[in-house]
Amino acid sequence: MASEVPPVYIGLKGIYVAKTALSYIDGERGRLIYRGYSIEDLAEHSSFEEVTYLLWFGKLPNRKELEEFKENLSREREIPDDVVDILRKLPKSSHPMDVLKTGVAALGPFDPDLPNIWGQHIHEKRTENLRIAIRILSKMPTIMAYFHRMREGKEIVRPRTDLSHAANFLYMMWGREPKEIEAKLMDVALILHADHGFNASTFACLVTASTLSDLYSAVVTGISTLKGPLHGGANEQALKMLMEIGSPERARDYVKAKLERKERIMGFGHRVYKAYDPRARILKKYAEMLAKETGQENLFNTALEVEKVMIELLGKKGIFPNVDFYSGQVYHMLGIPTDIFTPIFAISRTSGWIGHVFEYWEENVLIRPRALYVGPMEAKYIPLDERL
Ligand code: CMC
Repeated sequence: MASEVPPVYIGLKGIYVAKTALSYIDGERGRLIYRGYSIEDLAEHSSFEEVTYLLWFGKLPNRKELEEFKENLSREREIPDDVVDILRKLPKSSHPMDVLKTGVAALGPFDPDLPNIWGQHIHEKRTENLRIAIRILSKMPTIMAYFHRMREGKEIVRPRTDLSHAANFLYMMWGREPKEIEAKLMDVALILHADHGFNASTFACLVTASTLSDLYSAVVTGISTLKGPLHGGANEQALKMLMEIGSPERARDYVKAKLERKERIMGFGHRVYKAYDPRARILKKYAEMLAKETGQENLFNTALEVEKVMIELLGKKGIFPNVDFYSGQVYHMLGIPTDIFTPIFAISRTSGWIGHVFEYWEENVLIRPRALYVGPMEAKYIPLDERL
């Protein structure tokens, strides 16, 4: 009697593999919450540091807790000289995501806490893991900014401790202090990307962490997974499309022609959101402000027209702008190179990756699914010389 074939869930679509209290996406109503707080409230009133505290510790910090957390983070921004040397030796043409991955991997062996936690009951080593988490989060913007300046043939700009996580990143990238609106926008972008349920990179981090490997290894897994164009990266393509369209008057014909050819409009549609992505709505408001401030109204107005035509044509199918439609524009208007868009996503999502790892470690279970074997059950071994 043939044994029963178990169901196979390719891509784990719609499968719940864990419980989480970190973030919730209401795809029908276009809502995103972190531990119950709406993304709108957090973007308006909070900071990336405060949101990270919320994700890692399960509550908003009071003033003293936040000050202490910010101080702990800002103290850890510098990276060892040997890691700076490694960054210098990388080809200038390297993909910034590869640089970020290499940089985080290289930091691990320099971390004094790492040898003391390996293979142990990791959730019990909370203090050590927290110090490691702070180091990873704080040093990632430094890795990116240093490499960016090196590839441009410029002197690296050492981190400052008196600036926020977002402002310091821009300061190290540009060598000048960002204006208030620039720092606020980067902060908002970091808040909006900090967590998003069980996306591919978060899940990948958890697979690594579930073996009781360490946080450096988990974050390297996350960066590697985010690099793929099916996950990070649509914002770059959405921006390229807007540049190609060039002006609002050309938007309608461009969109229609593309849809007639059955091509996708980048920055629209989402697997979970069937309504307007709340992150896109927030960034749209800032994109408008920034467009006025930097004289790039043409780009913003082109985007508005693309959005109008798309909603007219596909809104009834649940296709609306997603976060990538406006994040690319915002970064571009800030003067950030296109290939650093996805690294910014990683710098932000590290907060969520680590929060999920901490949560998962509380009741760690090795993630080890099964694959349905469809190969032959018996094959006769043929010695090498006798094979055709
Ligand atoms: N442009 C035109 N048509 C679209 C688009 C789009 N961007 N997105 C979906 N559709 C159509 C699709 O052609 C299909 O039509 P039909 O039913 O006639 O065959 C229908 O909508 C459903 O598409 P699907 O691919 O089955 O839907 P999905 O939920 O699996 O796709 C998606 C989600 C993000 C892969 C898709 O919307 C897409 O490819 N968008 C463009 C890429 C993009 O912007 N990605 C960034 C996602 S947000 C980042 C994040 O949250 O991390």
